[in-house]
Amino acid sequence: MDPSVSGLTQRLAEADQSHLLQFWSELSPEEQADLSLDLQGMDFKEINGFFKNAMEVSSSSKHEKMDARMEPVPREVLGSVSRDRGSVKEWEQAGLHHISQSKVAALLLAGGQGTRLGVSYPKGMYDVGLPSHKTLFQIQAERILKLQQLAEQKHKIKCCIPWYIMTSGRTMESTKDFFSRHNYFGLDKSNIIFFQQGMLPAMDYNGKIILESKGKLSMAPDGNGGLYRALGNQGIMDDMERRGIQFIHVYCVDNILVKVADPAFVGFCVQKGADCGAKVVEKTNPTEAVGVVCKVDGHYQVVEYSEITLATAEKRSSDGRLMFNAGNVANHFFSFSFLRDVVQKFEPKLQHHVAQKKIPFVDSQGHLIKPDKPNGIKMEKFVFDIFQLAKTFVVYEVLREDEFSPLKNADSQDGKDTPSTAKHALISLHHRWVLNAGGHFIDENGRRVPAIPSLKDGTDLPIKCEVCPLVSYGGEGLEELVKGREFHPTLMIDEHGVHELVKNGV
Ligand code: UTP
Repeated sequence: MDPSVSGLTQRLAEADQSHLLQFWSELSPEEQADLSLDLQGMDFKEINGFFKNAMEVSSSSKHEKMDARMEPVPREVLGSVSRDRGSVKEWEQAGLHHISQSKVAALLLAGGQGTRLGVSYPKGMYDVGLPSHKTLFQIQAERILKLQQLAEQKHKIKCCIPWYIMTSGRTMESTKDFFSRHNYFGLDKSNIIFFQQGMLPAMDYNGKIILESKGKLSMAPDGNGGLYRALGNQGIMDDMERRGIQFIHVYCVDNILVKVADPAFVGFCVQKGADCGAKVVEKTNPTEAVGVVCKVDGHYQVVEYSEITLATAEKRSSDGRLMFNAGNVANHFFSFSFLRDVVQKFEPKLQHHVAQKKIPFVDSQGHLIKPDKPNGIKMEKFVFDIFQLAKTFVVYEVLREDEFSPLKNADSQDGKDTPSTAKHALISLHHRWVLNAGGHFIDENGRRVPAIPSLKDGTDLPIKCEVCPLVSYGGEGLEELVKGREFHPTLMIDEHGVHELVKNGV
């Protein structure tokens, strides 16, 4: 189709994006049709506006450090599993009650591209190499199933935790297909709701949309904060309303330890009357590149490590902890009414952040260039951009070793956040569960392995042990299976019983 017929040439000229058609005559009819379809669906005025605003915000905030405007999270809005140990059970019971009333939903952010991990399929389909070889999606699905059962048993009422899964243009089909092939991991298909976030074009520093090939724009998902627009335009808020959802737990696909719909977190937030809550882990190393939750000019937000000086990052409170130690793990609580207000009123006002990237492109001669330094930007919103809109914001601190081990990078020697570190984090947690429930491990000589293995005496396991989420959500219910017993690793505890695997499968 001739682009001038549909008015495309003129629209592009008006938006100063005419270069997108520079290879038109070289494209096959199919390629022309595809490009034309992609361009027809785009609102160039809006995209150019996003670019202008994002660049303005980014350049005005570039050199300004936040230090003077920051305050740490006050103790009265903080709940902590270690410092408020006595209250956790109560919060958990309250959360289970809300779950039993089918008022709690889980919302998974799975629209990212997983570029650092570098696999061609969605990250949730990744198998980090556990003895069971379960994928991240399966582990999360089974945790939901178990939690439903726990709530049902306690309150003698049938309930469900709807699972909203946000994908992007690149991950939607393969994600849906994966769930269908695995029979939704035992969950009711009608309670898993897939929806798709938006995509935005990558742009060069002059605001020109980048072509990744002669007939194709370079597109990327609009950040995990693309959630809020997608919730509105995909009818998800309506679905939640129909189901009577009041509380939503939002989390990332890549944390192997994630307590999906964590009843203690939900119970704490509800008890505090919060409309928005953030789960955090303690930042212990001042130079760790993690965003911290704090107050800026009186409003809660996440401040990135790059936005503060080292002196501020190193500041300590009287108890010896870092003053800004609430490490954000992208694990949030929202009340339905807060989320609805965000989606209906505030979403358009949220600004995109600028991420400078090396973006492959075709030059004016039509050659594909892979730049070795950043040549353009991707525009993203972040899920935590809405904290500052909350009326009652709370923070819930959990132990990193119990709840947070993200999968970001491919395996490498001494790598951080890799398949190996995720696998070890889960195995080590389950090992501790078994010890806490009164089980013991013995080595190949029949000797008891000390609870804290020492590298020197040859017991540098880590002990290989995996507990199926269908047996235990958070370490509960294991006594009757392991108390007073001795096990050889590899130990597997699943719905069929307790098994010692003769050969270490890890
Ligand atoms: P990351 O920012 O770590 O991105 O996402 P990523 O896509 O997993 O990995 P890289 O940066 O390309 O290597 C944190 C969480 O936010 C989700 C991801 O799926 C992950 O759960 N996310 C990210 C989205 O849902 N949409 C996005 O546009 C970006």
